[in-house]
Amino acid sequence: MTALLEVEGVVGGYGAADEILKGISVALAPRRMAAIVGPNGAGKSTLLKAIAGILKTKSGQIRLAGETLTGLPPRGIAARGVAFVPQEANIFGSLTVRENLEMGGYLEPASKVRTRVEALFARFPMLAEKRRRAARTLSGGQRQILAMAMALMVEPKLLLLDEPSAGLSPKAAEFLFDSIAAIHAEGTAILMVEQNALEALAIAEEGIVLVDGRVARTGEAKALAADPEVRRLFLGGH
Ligand SMILES: Nc1ncnc2c1ncn2[C@@H]1O[C@H](COP(=O)(O)OP(=O)(O)OP(=O)(O)O)[C@@H](O)[C@H]1O
Ligand SMILES: [Mg+2]
Repeated sequence: MTALLEVEGVVGGYGAADEILKGISVALAPRRMAAIVGPNGAGKSTLLKAIAGILKTKSGQIRLAGETLTGLPPRGIAARGVAFVPQEANIFGSLTVRENLEMGGYLEPASKVRTRVEALFARFPMLAEKRRRAARTLSGGQRQILAMAMALMVEPKLLLLDEPSAGLSPKAAEFLFDSIAAIHAEGTAILMVEQNALEALAIAEEGIVLVDGRVARTGEAKALAADPEVRRLFLGGH
């Protein structure tokens, strides 16, 4: 089967540090979920930015369902079905919950925006309850759900999540991971970067270990989570 996402030999970075990613190759089949784990500064966020088109790559190829994404502007990549939830500043604090969702759907026709907002309120009743509140009044966990719901406005084929559980209480993180697992179960492919590596590998099918701008390991998520070397080196396990 054709991969949904193909990243081939991608090199890229920022300004003079243009080789943060030192030749990354990863692939994801349609409807699959992979967790990207690895130490701080490994280039995990940089890789997601490259796929979303926010970061211009120096060399390599990125394709979605066989079509080249490399060189397209971020909105062109979004229009092809890739939604990105960044690590930080992923909601508009001064806008209401409903307005945030509408912003998530700004590329969509108005009738679709209305339908999607209602569908997402049905899926996340807690957002429906707070629809007229400014997003800054939400808890950390609710903000991350809102950020993800904004991305889901366009019914993406591929959802890129950068550390969705960062800074959340264990309970809020558990609700978030359950929500991510449910979105995946409905058929959305997900590439998720997580500091919370064991939890991420528990809900993903595949794992990608990134170290210093390179893919150090890939494999079945459960096998990686159980691998003593992976646990010792990257997960702080025993
Ligand atoms: N905007 C930027 N300009 C210059 N260098 C950057 C920029 N963003 C990140 N870097 C550098 O690129 C490298 C990889 O950063 P990146 O944010 O991708 O790591 P990460 O794996 O996501 O780490 P973390 O787990 O801390 O989020 C780091 O050395 C970082 O300092
Ligand atoms: Mg990061």
